[in-house]
Amino acid sequence: MYCFSLFWLLGCSLSNYFFLKTEHFGFRLSLSLPGVIFAPYGPVWKQQRKFSLSTLRHFGVGRHSLEPKIIEELKFIKEEMLKHGKDSFNPFPIIRNAVSNVICSMALGRRFNYEDVEFKTMLKNMARALELSVNSYMILVNICPWLYYLPFGPFRELRKTELDITTFLKKIIAQHRDTLDAANPRDFIDMYFIHAEEEKNNKESSFNEDYLFFIIGDLFIAGTDTTSNTLLWCLLYMSLYPEVQEKVHAEIEAVLGRDKVPSLTHKAQMPFTEATIMEVQRMTAVVPLSIPRMASETAVLQGYTIPKGSVIVPNLWSVHRDPNIWEKPDEFQPSRFLDENGQLIKKEAFIPFGMGKRVCMGEQLAKMELFLIFASLMQSFTFLYPENAAKPSMEGRFGLTLAPCPFNIIALKR
Ligand code: HEM
Repeated sequence: MYCFSLFWLLGCSLSNYFFLKTEHFGFRLSLSLPGVIFAPYGPVWKQQRKFSLSTLRHFGVGRHSLEPKIIEELKFIKEEMLKHGKDSFNPFPIIRNAVSNVICSMALGRRFNYEDVEFKTMLKNMARALELSVNSYMILVNICPWLYYLPFGPFRELRKTELDITTFLKKIIAQHRDTLDAANPRDFIDMYFIHAEEEKNNKESSFNEDYLFFIIGDLFIAGTDTTSNTLLWCLLYMSLYPEVQEKVHAEIEAVLGRDKVPSLTHKAQMPFTEATIMEVQRMTAVVPLSIPRMASETAVLQGYTIPKGSVIVPNLWSVHRDPNIWEKPDEFQPSRFLDENGQLIKKEAFIPFGMGKRVCMGEQLAKMELFLIFASLMQSFTFLYPENAAKPSMEGRFGLTLAPCPFNIIALKR
């Protein structure tokens, strides 16, 4: 993953696209890894993405059958938040653990207690690895790959966190292999093993245990960090914009009251709540730069010649803040996603999940989680920013995803 730090960092220049011709640097940039996220476009990526999408659907993504799993997790989040009463607390571990449990229950077949030390360490490692992978030292690794093996500094720390994550995931995969019952697949890993066995005589098949490790790593990392950072941003924005929070509360009161459990069927009746989530996503662009592409032909775009073979890094952050597209783009205004009748409007330039063939594979899952968790938390709590605490920078911390800077919050029971 570190190989990509160069692209992601350079793409931060706030033009909508960043072009880079690999030969200009006099060294070869490594662009591919197994898995889905950084797999090169081709038959292996297609096979793996198709299988992963249909297996996620099998486990309820995009359908109501997944709702109970997400709702179950909400019970634990609320219990944790209630423990703090009127005191402020750090919401990061609670939200990360809860979001990760949704993907873990589908992919690994189990959820983890919020006190589970090994899992807590894993989530910390993951956030740290993402942060380190865009550390400016890491850029040098693209030029001198051997730096990665230095026995000190951020390289050593990155190696250690990568090793811990690898050990954790490989242990779970091995346990699945040893206890597999092909007639009763428990989760994504079991389905993958079964599919690999079915395909074992197919020479074109890319399904094997080594590849499975990368797919699970992608699901685990992409499925945790993105959605949890979006939810954390939502809580932060609600605490800093109480007038918006009041409107969300009013809509929830009208549609759900205090006791009705939120469901995707309520979405259509809650346009302001949805518009609020969308505006947080627009403002914060938790995946500010999407997956690098490569020009298959020389092309001219807006007067710029893009030579064949150029690496292109679409800058989603910049699209979301483009003053030619959005009125007052730096202001937080959920109503920009509503028409004069208060109904939700789709905006072409709203692309938090990217676009095209590599569009986010977890979009449906993320949208379900964001709506159900946000609506349910807002139904139960009023979020306040602690009075005497300094306001955090709203620019966030860049580390492959854009996370909010650390903050504490008060969750008052409604
Ligand atoms: C709010 C949450 C999320 C956001 C904002 C987000 C955003 C993105 C973006 C911008 C991309 C790159 C798309 C492109 O290059 O055009 C992407 C790719 C991807 N995302 Fe997400 N994502 C989220 C949640 C998830 C979840 C929950 C999963 C887990 C299932 C996931 C799995 C993936 C995968 C596997 C890819 C690579 C797709 C491919 O290359 O074919 N994402 N995501």
